[in-house]
Amino acid sequence: DQRYAYIDRLPKAELHLHIEGSLEPEMLFDLAQRNGVSIPFASVEEIRNAYNFSNLQDFLDIYYQGMAVLLKQQDFYDLTWAYLERAHADHVRHVEMFFDPQGHTERGVAFADVVTGISDALADGEKQWGITSRLIMCFLRHLDEASAEATLDEAVPFLDRIAGVGLDSSEVGHPPSKFRNVFARARSLGLKIVAHAGEEGPPEYVHEALDILNVDRIDHGNRALEDEGLVQRIVADGMTLTVCPLSNLKLCVIDEIGQSPVKRMLDAGIRATVNSDDPAYFGGYVNENYRAIASALDLSRDDLRTLAANSFTGSFLPEEAKAHLL
Ligand code: ADE
Ligand code: ZN
Repeated sequence: DQRYAYIDRLPKAELHLHIEGSLEPEMLFDLAQRNGVSIPFASVEEIRNAYNFSNLQDFLDIYYQGMAVLLKQQDFYDLTWAYLERAHADHVRHVEMFFDPQGHTERGVAFADVVTGISDALADGEKQWGITSRLIMCFLRHLDEASAEATLDEAVPFLDRIAGVGLDSSEVGHPPSKFRNVFARARSLGLKIVAHAGEEGPPEYVHEALDILNVDRIDHGNRALEDEGLVQRIVADGMTLTVCPLSNLKLCVIDEIGQSPVKRMLDAGIRATVNSDDPAYFGGYVNENYRAIASALDLSRDDLRTLAANSFTGSFLPEEAKAHLL
């Protein structure tokens, strides 16, 4: 496909990437040995063979198990550095990276080790390749709001390294409204706000993310397409959606890649972007996500250029930096 070379060279931003979801089976296996953590897999191949999911929860169960090998500040540095090498190869010029502190502090890892390891690597990535970044701290929505509040308390001394807060993990049964107070406080601290909504959950959760959390961006947002009024509002507000095609396929949000909503979103006037979500688990980094939909949705170069431009426009970079990158 002639579009692949074009995709590879396109400068792009990645706006939906869980750093823990970039933990490749090889590194998972090596870190288990380095840290003396026992894992229920005898080989890298066994790990990879376990990556078969029929829904979000199936994936999350194995994702939380995988991150248990991350213990030291250096582990978080190495993980982030490995992602940045892949991102650089894909011509990613800017990344807005999620991390799940509760997945680590729950296991006794110090919050400071997580944030410092990740953000030191991000700083080195900017020095080495000029890749700019923002770090977004996600609250796990299957836990209660008090736990999210305690996590925000822990983040306060590190707000020079954290640009925003997000909401992830098991969606259905955990609507955005469960977290209204902690997001209001995050906003008052000057943090940007994003939330996963409409991945498996209904359009009502997207409404709540907009109305109650006051989000600056929606992560996934697939099911917003079921509500025409909601689509019109997203278009009118210039709201960015961070869509993840290979993730949607692996988590059975769609049955085949041709059902990816990206082209329908573009045609509706929505500022859609293409992202990898958890590339080590879903079979591809950002360029592979672009390639998969370019073929399946028969995207034009114009569409591809629009998607890459949207990734900068929808980022939290200052306007003058966007202008320079566009
Ligand atoms: N955590 C990591 N990836 C996620 C996803 N796609 N949805 C919800 N929580 C997540
Ligand atoms: Zn995600």
